[in-house]
Amino acid sequence: MKQLRSVEMVPENVNVILRMDTDLPFEGETILDDSRLKKTIPTIRYLLEKNCKIIILGHRGRPEGKVASELSLKPVYVALMELLQDGQQLIDSVFVDDIKDENKIGLAVKNNQIIFGENLRFWSEEDAGDTSLFGVIKRYTQALVNDAFAVAHRKNASIILHREMETYYGFSFAEEVEKISQILEKEERPMIIILGGAKEDKLKYIDDLLKIADHILIGGKLPKLVQNPSPASRDLPLTMEAKIVVAKLREDGLDLSEEDIVKFSEIISSSKTIIWSGAMGFYEQENSRIGTQKIAQAVADSLGQKIIAGGDTSASIKDLGLKNKIDFICSGGGVMLEMLVKGDLPAWS
Ligand code: 3PG
Repeated sequence: MKQLRSVEMVPENVNVILRMDTDLPFEGETILDDSRLKKTIPTIRYLLEKNCKIIILGHRGRPEGKVASELSLKPVYVALMELLQDGQQLIDSVFVDDIKDENKIGLAVKNNQIIFGENLRFWSEEDAGDTSLFGVIKRYTQALVNDAFAVAHRKNASIILHREMETYYGFSFAEEVEKISQILEKEERPMIIILGGAKEDKLKYIDDLLKIADHILIGGKLPKLVQNPSPASRDLPLTMEAKIVVAKLREDGLDLSEEDIVKFSEIISSSKTIIWSGAMGFYEQENSRIGTQKIAQAVADSLGQKIIAGGDTSASIKDLGLKNKIDFICSGGGVMLEMLVKGDLPAWS
């Protein structure tokens, strides 16, 4: 299993950059699920106990072409400070909208314990993996702490920054790596992978997943993309194609059909390892949740070991009160798949 340098080794009284998972689900102005923030609270408290100043950096969504204010991290900052301050001593903190501005950063670090930066993806350098984005911040910090497992598969500037700074990993990051590794090391078979949701980039993993899984079940928005021949389903030997079960979907295309539910549930019930990422239908719409809920029930009822990932997948498990029947809920689907096929992640390599 990958051994990572723990946040417990951060020296006292230093200034650190803390990369957090700040990409939360929103409905309008309301945060629907703050569990990604809660996961990092122990790491933040630990750093505060060591008298570190913390510059928190993170991203929200995929801003391309959107008005910056729609995807600002300001509400995430407010929510995090509320969680941190709950009954505790007041912490001096500030939100900085320009992380490249020497005056703003200098003043913020001088006067505060926690400095929270604006959405990293507002700067093109983040996606491009150009760490010069942190030229100013690096002058005020001595170490990087990464607690953003959900984005550990991206070669974003903040994720590969470990290549040029003393780096440590937060409690939540270390736990995710450990739990996924443990389940994979056991490798109990048959192993199935259920892919859903709307993020098309999951399909690029199919060829590699076929080498390790006994079956891949595909639902959510992905069946439409697989059938328009995707790079993932092209040129595969027939034996491999046979292992993929692509949902036919309900007539309106927004959820699994009854037939899909029966077929998927049968395969799930005879599996010993189940890895599930992404809702089976358009979960935001109430009448398109049934497929996800039935699959959640089938996964929970199966006797195998189970890891699930992704916002709607976890929401369905929580809504049905099935959380304690799942071995591990991972904070991100993409990263879980990347770890599964490569074993290595840009966040440490
Ligand atoms: C997630 O929500 O899974 C992470 O924040 C990664 O987001 P991305 O797929 O936009 O990189």
